[in-house]
Amino acid sequence: MNIVIANDQGAVELTKKIIKHLEVAGHTVNYLGIDHEESIDYPDQAEKACIEYKKGDYDFGIVCCGTGIGISIAANKVKGIRCALVQDIYSAQKAKQHNNANFIAFGGRIEYKEKPLDILDAFIKTDFEGGRHQRRVTKIMDIESK
Ligand code: RB5
Repeated sequence: MNIVIANDQGAVELTKKIIKHLEVAGHTVNYLGIDHEESIDYPDQAEKACIEYKKGDYDFGIVCCGTGIGISIAANKVKGIRCALVQDIYSAQKAKQHNNANFIAFGGRIEYKEKPLDILDAFIKTDFEGGRHQRRVTKIMDIESK
C-alpha cells in the first residue's frame, strides 16, 4: 500500500515505529512529519498529510500527535477526509468496515491496551463492508456540502 504519514512532537517515537513497521511489511511510506521534539502545530501537520493524500496516489493516511485528538480533529476538517481516532483493534476494524475511514490517528503519549502496530495492522487488513454503511458514509460526506 501507499501511505502518507505526519506527526507532531508528541508522537516522534511512535511515528518512527509505525514507519519502520510499514516498510518492513513492504508498504511505501511518504513521511511528512518531524523526527525531533521541537514544537510544531499539529493542525499544520494534519493539513499537510491530508492535502498530500488528496493528490490521489494513496491508500490511506496516518496522523499522530500526543493524544491523536487534535490532529484527528484537524484532519477531519479537510474535505473528503474521514479520520478515525482508534483506541484498539476492535475500533480500528470498525473504522474501516463501517466508516470506511481513509485516515487513522494515534497518540504518542497514550497507553494503548493493545499494541498500536497491531491496531494499525487490523485497520490495514480490514475491508469496508459497503451496503447500509455506504449510505451512512455518504450521509457523513454530504454534511460537508451543507
Ligand atoms: C502538543 O503538545 C499536543 O497538544 C499535541 O500533540 C496533541 O496531543 C493535541 O491534541
